[in-house]
Amino acid sequence: MNNHPEYYLDLKRNRLEKALDYYLSGEDSPVFEAMRYAVLGGGKRFRPLLLLASGEHFGATEDLLLPYACAVEFIHNYSLIHDDLPSMDDDDFRRGRPSCHKKFGEALALLAGDGLLTLAFEILAAAPAPASDQGLKTRVAAEVAMAAGPRGMIAGQWLDINFDPDNLDPESYREMASRKTAGLIRVSAVSGARLAGAPEIAIQALEKYGSYLGLAFQLRDDLQDLLQDQASGKAIRPNLARILGRSASLELLETWLGKARRALEETDINSDILSLFIRQLQPGRESQA
Ligand code: IPE
Ligand code: IPE
Ligand code: MG
Ligand code: MG
Repeated sequence: MNNHPEYYLDLKRNRLEKALDYYLSGEDSPVFEAMRYAVLGGGKRFRPLLLLASGEHFGATEDLLLPYACAVEFIHNYSLIHDDLPSMDDDDFRRGRPSCHKKFGEALALLAGDGLLTLAFEILAAAPAPASDQGLKTRVAAEVAMAAGPRGMIAGQWLDINFDPDNLDPESYREMASRKTAGLIRVSAVSGARLAGAPEIAIQALEKYGSYLGLAFQLRDDLQDLLQDQASGKAIRPNLARILGRSASLELLETWLGKARRALEETDINSDILSLFIRQLQPGRESQA
Protein backbone atom coordinates (compact mmCIF):
# COMPACT_ATOMS: atom_id res chain seq x y z
CA MET A 1 0.00 0.00 0.00
CA ASN A 2 1.12 3.53 -0.73
CA ASN A 3 1.58 4.94 2.78
CA HIS A 4 1.75 8.60 1.81
CA PRO A 5 -0.45 10.49 4.36
CA GLU A 6 -2.45 12.27 1.64
CA TYR A 7 -3.15 8.91 -0.01
CA TYR A 8 -4.23 7.44 3.34
CA LEU A 9 -6.68 10.31 3.89
CA ASP A 10 -8.13 9.96 0.36
CA LEU A 11 -8.68 6.27 0.91
CA LYS A 12 -10.35 6.83 4.29
CA ARG A 13 -12.46 9.68 2.88
CA ASN A 14 -13.88 7.26 0.29
CA ARG A 15 -14.73 4.67 2.93
CA LEU A 16 -16.31 7.35 5.08
CA GLU A 17 -18.47 8.72 2.23
CA LYS A 18 -19.84 5.22 1.64
CA ALA A 19 -20.59 4.69 5.33
CA LEU A 20 -22.31 8.09 5.66
CA ASP A 21 -24.41 7.31 2.60
CA TYR A 22 -25.30 3.88 4.04
CA TYR A 23 -26.60 5.34 7.31
CA LEU A 24 -28.76 7.85 5.39
CA SER A 25 -30.19 5.31 2.92
CA GLY A 26 -33.29 3.16 2.88
CA GLU A 27 -35.78 5.76 4.03
CA ASP A 28 -37.66 7.88 1.53
CA SER A 29 -38.98 10.91 3.37
CA PRO A 30 -38.58 14.68 3.16
CA VAL A 31 -36.64 14.69 6.45
CA PHE A 32 -34.17 12.10 5.12
CA GLU A 33 -33.91 14.00 1.83
CA ALA A 34 -32.92 17.14 3.74
CA MET A 35 -30.48 15.16 5.90
CA ARG A 36 -28.86 13.63 2.82
CA TYR A 37 -28.64 17.02 1.12
CA ALA A 38 -26.90 18.54 4.12
CA VAL A 39 -24.42 15.72 4.73
CA LEU A 40 -23.59 14.35 1.31
CA GLY A 41 -22.92 17.64 -0.45
CA GLY A 42 -19.19 17.92 0.26
CA GLY A 43 -17.38 18.83 3.44
CA LYS A 44 -13.79 18.16 4.37
CA ARG A 45 -14.64 15.39 6.92
CA PHE A 46 -11.91 16.77 9.18
CA ARG A 47 -13.32 15.34 12.44
CA PRO A 48 -14.13 11.77 11.34
CA LEU A 49 -10.80 11.48 9.49
CA LEU A 50 -9.05 12.58 12.65
CA LEU A 51 -10.91 9.91 14.63
CA LEU A 52 -9.97 7.21 12.10
CA ALA A 53 -6.33 8.33 11.95
CA SER A 54 -5.91 8.44 15.72
CA GLY A 55 -7.61 5.06 16.18
CA GLU A 56 -5.65 3.30 13.43
CA HIS A 57 -2.38 4.75 14.69
CA PHE A 58 -2.95 2.92 17.97
CA GLY A 59 -4.09 -0.30 16.28
CA ALA A 60 -7.91 -0.16 16.11
CA THR A 61 -9.58 -1.51 12.98
CA GLU A 62 -11.50 0.60 10.48
CA ASP A 63 -14.60 -1.55 11.06
CA LEU A 64 -14.61 -0.70 14.74
CA LEU A 65 -13.98 3.02 14.18
CA LEU A 66 -16.26 3.85 11.23
CA PRO A 67 -19.59 4.07 13.14
CA TYR A 68 -18.01 6.44 15.69
CA ALA A 69 -16.52 8.53 12.88
CA CYS A 70 -19.92 8.80 11.15
CA ALA A 71 -21.63 9.77 14.41
CA VAL A 72 -19.21 12.66 14.91
CA GLU A 73 -19.70 13.84 11.32
CA PHE A 74 -23.50 13.73 11.72
CA ILE A 75 -23.29 15.84 14.88
CA HIS A 76 -21.08 18.35 13.05
CA ASN A 77 -23.53 18.55 10.13
CA TYR A 78 -26.51 19.06 12.45
CA SER A 79 -24.61 21.98 14.01
CA LEU A 80 -24.01 23.54 10.57
CA ILE A 81 -27.68 23.27 9.53
CA HIS A 82 -28.82 25.00 12.71
CA ASP A 83 -25.95 27.51 12.59
CA ASP A 84 -27.13 28.76 9.16
CA LEU A 85 -30.75 29.37 10.25
CA PRO A 86 -32.09 32.94 10.19
CA SER A 87 -32.21 32.99 14.00
CA MET A 88 -28.51 32.08 14.16
CA ASP A 89 -26.00 33.22 11.49
CA ASP A 90 -28.61 33.62 8.76
CA ASP A 91 -26.40 32.22 6.02
CA ASP A 92 -27.91 31.45 2.61
CA PHE A 93 -25.01 29.33 1.43
CA ARG A 94 -23.05 26.38 2.79
CA ARG A 95 -20.36 24.43 0.93
CA GLY A 96 -21.05 26.51 -2.17
CA ARG A 97 -24.75 25.56 -2.35
CA PRO A 98 -27.96 26.93 -0.82
CA SER A 99 -28.00 26.15 2.89
CA CYS A 100 -30.46 23.50 4.07
CA HIS A 101 -33.22 25.92 5.12
CA LYS A 102 -32.90 27.85 1.83
CA LYS A 103 -33.46 24.62 -0.08
CA PHE A 104 -36.08 22.93 2.14
CA GLY A 105 -37.52 25.67 4.38
CA GLU A 106 -36.92 26.27 8.06
CA ALA A 107 -39.14 23.57 9.53
CA LEU A 108 -37.51 20.79 7.53
CA ALA A 109 -34.02 22.16 8.18
CA LEU A 110 -34.65 22.19 11.93
CA LEU A 111 -35.93 18.63 11.79
CA ALA A 112 -33.05 17.46 9.56
CA GLY A 113 -30.64 18.85 12.18
CA ASP A 114 -32.56 17.16 15.00
CA GLY A 115 -32.62 13.97 12.92
CA LEU A 116 -28.85 13.94 12.42
CA LEU A 117 -28.16 14.58 16.10
CA THR A 118 -30.48 11.77 17.19
CA LEU A 119 -29.23 9.39 14.50
CA ALA A 120 -25.67 9.98 15.75
CA PHE A 121 -26.57 8.59 19.17
CA GLU A 122 -28.57 5.73 17.63
CA ILE A 123 -25.38 4.78 15.75
CA LEU A 124 -23.24 5.10 18.89
CA ALA A 125 -25.65 2.88 20.84
CA ALA A 126 -25.46 0.20 18.15
CA ALA A 127 -21.70 0.55 17.48
CA PRO A 128 -19.38 -2.37 18.25
CA ALA A 129 -17.42 -2.13 21.49
CA PRO A 130 -13.68 -2.89 21.54
CA ALA A 131 -13.21 -6.58 22.44
CA SER A 132 -10.43 -5.70 24.90
CA ASP A 133 -12.62 -3.43 27.01
CA GLN A 134 -16.39 -3.16 26.44
CA GLY A 135 -16.64 -0.17 28.80
CA LEU A 136 -14.67 2.04 26.40
CA LYS A 137 -17.70 2.36 24.14
CA THR A 138 -19.87 3.98 26.85
CA ARG A 139 -16.98 6.23 27.82
CA VAL A 140 -16.51 7.44 24.24
CA ALA A 141 -20.27 7.98 23.77
CA ALA A 142 -20.41 10.03 26.99
CA GLU A 143 -17.42 12.13 25.95
CA VAL A 144 -18.93 12.81 22.52
CA ALA A 145 -22.23 13.81 24.19
CA MET A 146 -20.40 16.17 26.55
CA ALA A 147 -18.43 17.82 23.75
CA ALA A 148 -21.61 18.38 21.71
CA GLY A 149 -23.95 19.17 24.56
CA PRO A 150 -25.04 22.14 26.68
CA ARG A 151 -21.65 22.46 28.40
CA GLY A 152 -19.81 22.11 25.09
CA MET A 153 -20.74 23.11 21.55
CA ILE A 154 -24.22 24.35 22.45
CA ALA A 155 -22.78 26.64 25.14
CA GLY A 156 -20.18 27.83 22.62
CA GLN A 157 -22.86 28.73 20.08
CA TRP A 158 -24.65 30.80 22.72
CA LEU A 159 -21.42 32.64 23.60
CA ASP A 160 -20.81 33.25 19.89
CA ILE A 161 -24.30 34.65 19.26
CA ASN A 162 -23.98 36.98 22.23
CA PHE A 163 -20.56 38.38 21.51
CA ASP A 164 -20.54 42.13 21.81
CA PRO A 165 -18.49 43.34 18.84
CA ASP A 166 -17.21 46.35 20.81
CA ASN A 167 -16.06 44.30 23.78
CA LEU A 168 -14.32 41.34 22.26
CA ASP A 169 -11.21 40.09 23.98
CA PRO A 170 -8.90 37.19 23.13
CA GLU A 171 -9.64 35.30 26.37
CA SER A 172 -13.41 35.21 25.87
CA TYR A 173 -12.88 34.29 22.22
CA ARG A 174 -10.77 31.36 23.31
CA GLU A 175 -13.48 30.23 25.73
CA MET A 176 -16.10 30.45 22.97
CA ALA A 177 -13.98 28.70 20.30
CA SER A 178 -12.92 26.02 22.69
CA ARG A 179 -16.53 25.04 23.38
CA LYS A 180 -18.03 25.79 19.97
CA THR A 181 -15.41 24.12 17.77
CA ALA A 182 -12.39 22.69 19.59
CA GLY A 183 -14.46 20.33 21.77
CA LEU A 184 -15.70 18.16 18.89
CA ILE A 185 -12.26 18.17 17.24
CA ARG A 186 -10.60 17.24 20.56
CA VAL A 187 -13.05 14.42 21.23
CA SER A 188 -12.50 13.10 17.68
CA ALA A 189 -8.74 12.99 18.22
CA VAL A 190 -9.17 11.26 21.58
CA SER A 191 -11.98 8.81 20.76
CA GLY A 192 -10.10 6.86 18.10
CA ALA A 193 -7.15 6.29 20.42
CA ARG A 194 -9.43 5.45 23.33
CA LEU A 195 -11.25 2.80 21.31
CA ALA A 196 -7.84 1.38 20.38
CA GLY A 197 -6.98 1.01 24.06
CA ALA A 198 -4.12 3.56 23.85
CA PRO A 199 -2.28 4.33 27.13
CA GLU A 200 -3.47 7.26 29.28
CA ILE A 201 -0.35 9.32 28.52
CA ALA A 202 -1.19 9.17 24.80
CA ILE A 203 -4.83 10.08 25.51
CA GLN A 204 -3.71 13.13 27.46
CA ALA A 205 -1.38 14.18 24.64
CA LEU A 206 -4.22 13.83 22.14
CA GLU A 207 -6.48 15.94 24.38
CA LYS A 208 -3.90 18.70 24.14
CA TYR A 209 -3.23 18.14 20.44
CA GLY A 210 -6.98 18.14 19.65
CA SER A 211 -7.70 21.24 21.74
CA TYR A 212 -5.03 23.35 20.04
CA LEU A 213 -5.84 21.94 16.62
CA GLY A 214 -9.49 22.89 17.25
CA LEU A 215 -8.67 26.43 18.36
CA ALA A 216 -6.44 26.85 15.31
CA PHE A 217 -9.22 25.45 13.10
CA GLN A 218 -11.69 28.12 14.27
CA LEU A 219 -9.17 30.96 14.05
CA ARG A 220 -8.26 29.93 10.51
CA ASP A 221 -11.96 29.81 9.57
CA ASP A 222 -12.43 33.28 11.05
CA LEU A 223 -9.43 34.59 9.12
CA GLN A 224 -10.94 33.26 5.91
CA ASP A 225 -14.33 34.82 6.76
CA LEU A 226 -12.59 38.14 7.40
CA LEU A 227 -10.83 38.09 4.02
CA GLN A 228 -14.01 37.04 2.19
CA ASP A 229 -16.16 39.62 3.92
CA GLN A 230 -13.63 42.37 3.20
CA ALA A 231 -13.58 41.35 -0.47
CA SER A 232 -17.39 41.23 -0.76
CA GLY A 233 -18.05 44.34 1.33
CA LYS A 234 -20.38 42.28 3.57
CA ALA A 235 -20.75 43.18 7.24
CA ILE A 236 -18.02 41.37 9.18
CA ARG A 237 -19.26 39.31 12.09
CA PRO A 238 -17.29 39.75 15.29
CA ASN A 239 -14.39 37.36 15.48
CA LEU A 240 -10.84 37.26 16.80
CA ALA A 241 -9.23 37.84 13.42
CA ARG A 242 -11.11 41.14 13.33
CA ILE A 243 -9.89 42.28 16.75
CA LEU A 244 -6.28 41.20 16.35
CA GLY A 245 -5.87 41.93 12.65
CA ARG A 246 -4.39 39.61 10.08
CA SER A 247 -0.76 39.51 11.12
CA ALA A 248 -1.33 38.99 14.88
CA SER A 249 -3.95 36.35 14.05
CA LEU A 250 -1.48 34.49 11.84
CA GLU A 251 1.04 34.61 14.67
CA LEU A 252 -1.48 33.18 17.15
CA LEU A 253 -2.43 30.50 14.63
CA GLU A 254 1.24 29.44 14.42
CA THR A 255 1.51 29.41 18.23
CA TRP A 256 -1.52 27.13 18.60
CA LEU A 257 -0.36 24.81 15.81
CA GLY A 258 3.08 24.66 17.48
CA LYS A 259 1.45 23.56 20.74
CA ALA A 260 -0.48 20.84 18.91
CA ARG A 261 2.78 19.66 17.31
CA ARG A 262 4.63 19.64 20.65
CA ALA A 263 1.89 17.58 22.28
CA LEU A 264 2.64 14.80 19.77
CA GLU A 265 6.42 15.18 19.98
CA GLU A 266 6.56 15.15 23.78
CA THR A 267 4.92 11.75 23.91
CA ASP A 268 6.61 10.32 20.80
CA ILE A 269 3.40 9.96 18.83
CA ASN A 270 5.05 9.64 15.44
CA SER A 271 2.20 9.79 13.01
CA ASP A 272 2.65 11.45 9.62
CA ILE A 273 -1.12 11.56 9.36
CA LEU A 274 -1.77 13.31 12.68
CA SER A 275 1.00 15.76 11.71
CA LEU A 276 -0.67 16.37 8.36
CA PHE A 277 -3.81 17.68 10.13
CA ILE A 278 -1.58 20.37 11.66
CA ARG A 279 0.09 21.21 8.34
CA GLN A 280 -3.32 21.51 6.63
CA LEU A 281 -4.15 24.43 8.94
CA GLN A 282 -0.93 26.29 8.29
CA PRO A 283 -1.31 29.65 6.62
CA GLY A 284 -0.73 29.47 2.89
CA ARG A 285 -2.54 26.09 2.54
CA GLU A 286 -5.94 27.70 2.14
CA SER A 287 -7.18 25.23 -0.44
CA GLN A 288 -6.29 22.19 1.64
CA ALA A 289 -8.52 22.55 4.69
C1 IPE B 1 -17.18 24.75 9.62
O1 IPE B 1 -16.60 23.49 9.79
C2 IPE B 1 -17.57 25.30 10.93
C3 IPE B 1 -16.45 25.59 11.85
C4 IPE B 1 -16.30 24.98 12.96
C5 IPE B 1 -15.50 26.59 11.53
P1 IPE B 1 -15.80 22.77 8.62
O2 IPE B 1 -14.82 23.74 8.04
O3 IPE B 1 -15.25 21.49 9.12
O4 IPE B 1 -16.93 22.50 7.56
P2 IPE B 1 -17.04 21.37 6.43
O5 IPE B 1 -17.63 20.17 7.10
O6 IPE B 1 -15.68 21.09 5.87
O7 IPE B 1 -17.96 21.97 5.40
C1 IPE C 1 -20.26 26.86 12.85
O1 IPE C 1 -19.57 27.92 13.37
C2 IPE C 1 -21.03 26.07 13.87
C3 IPE C 1 -20.29 25.41 14.92
C4 IPE C 1 -18.99 25.35 15.02
C5 IPE C 1 -21.06 24.75 15.96
P1 IPE C 1 -19.32 29.24 12.51
O2 IPE C 1 -20.57 30.01 12.38
O3 IPE C 1 -18.15 29.92 13.11
O4 IPE C 1 -18.84 28.63 11.13
P2 IPE C 1 -19.25 28.94 9.62
O5 IPE C 1 -18.37 30.08 9.21
O6 IPE C 1 -20.71 29.27 9.60
O7 IPE C 1 -18.91 27.68 8.87
MG1 MG D 1 -21.95 30.59 13.89
MG1 MG E 1 -21.88 30.32 10.77
